Amino acid sequence: MRCAAARDCRATSERALRSFLRRVAARIRERTTGERGHTLTPAQFAQAQKDDNRRYLDIASVFDGSSLKGKRVAITGGSRGLGLEIAKAAMDVGAEVLVICRSGTVDGAKIYDGVDVTDAEACASAAKKIVEDGGPVDVLINNAGYFYGPCEKVTDNSLNFEEELKQIDICAVGPLRVSNALYQAGGLVQGSKIAIVTSQAGSCEWRFTQNKDEGGDYGHHMSRAACNIGGVLLAEELKSKGVCVVLLHPGFNRTEMTKKYESIWDIEGAVPPAEGALRVLHEVIRASLDKTGAFVNCEDGLRIPW
Ligand SMILES: NC(=O)c1ccc[n+]([C@@H]2O[C@H](COP(=O)([O-])OP(=O)(O)OC[C@H]3O[C@@H](n4cnc5c(N)ncnc54)[C@H](OP(=O)(O)O)[C@@H]3O)[C@@H](O)[C@H]2O)c1
Repeated sequence: MRCAAARDCRATSERALRSFLRRVAARIRERTTGERGHTLTPAQFAQAQKDDNRRYLDIASVFDGSSLKGKRVAITGGSRGLGLEIAKAAMDVGAEVLVICRSGTVDGAKIYDGVDVTDAEACASAAKKIVEDGGPVDVLINNAGYFYGPCEKVTDNSLNFEEELKQIDICAVGPLRVSNALYQAGGLVQGSKIAIVTSQAGSCEWRFTQNKDEGGDYGHHMSRAACNIGGVLLAEELKSKGVCVVLLHPGFNRTEMTKKYESIWDIEGAVPPAEGALRVLHEVIRASLDKTGAFVNCEDGLRIPW
């Protein structure tokens, strides 16, 4: 049993390493052939180091969270991983933090537990309580997400349709369910912001380089593309209500979700989630109605191609 687990683990690391090498090769090809203009994560990270880009390499040195002081910030999946660090960072700058989660406690935050983002009733009842407890929120951060472990492939018959639908339910419909529930409860009003922590995995354009010659990870990447479409539609619908929406790729964070990519954490500049949290909040603060619907990489603040 242990042997099989070790073999699985080795296979995952080898796959991650092979994938990294392929992407570097693709990048070199791009540079020499002029194909596609977008930088890859390792290239971006290397460039940021070369330029000593503080925004990218040391977010704490540029982060100013003072505008969040006294603001009501609700966050899904806020009791673990990146979400927990976002909750803590928001509290550090004086925000009132409302954690919407399945279970858990967070010192200093108000907890709304028993909320699976696939459960519309649970979302509605938490939203109602949030508004009863203190009125509308200033910021809703849809952070809860899920990435199925094994890489899915057609060629080795490893597609898992159930898992594909589960990821779409959590990562794409989940943010819409929560945002809808809070809007219906009167919790999102003129001036409120909705942030959706999505992933660059949902960028079709990037699949030509990041999944070059490989494909794979169908459910997760499809879920994020669907999430992004949902975010853009939500942005267009809520614009006239004065509610802005921003889609945020949080960068590469060292959490349970990315443990399977541990072998490339250093090479690709994966950061501790406390750092990723500041990057996310930095972009939440910068989000505004005139840029509603933007899909932003929190590592460098630049737009991600669709
Ligand atoms: N880490 C990265 O490098 C990275 C990169 C791109 C995007 N992201 C996105 O960033 C977000 C946070 O990721 P992470 O790295 O912190 O992942 P994580 O460590 O796996 O944490 C996932 C969080 O989502 C919650 N969650 C999962 N399924 C849920 C459901 N059905 N209902 C309610 N909550 C649910 C979990 O709550 P429980 O404790 O109840 O399981 C947990 O709080 C995710 O949306 C992820 O897709 C992360």
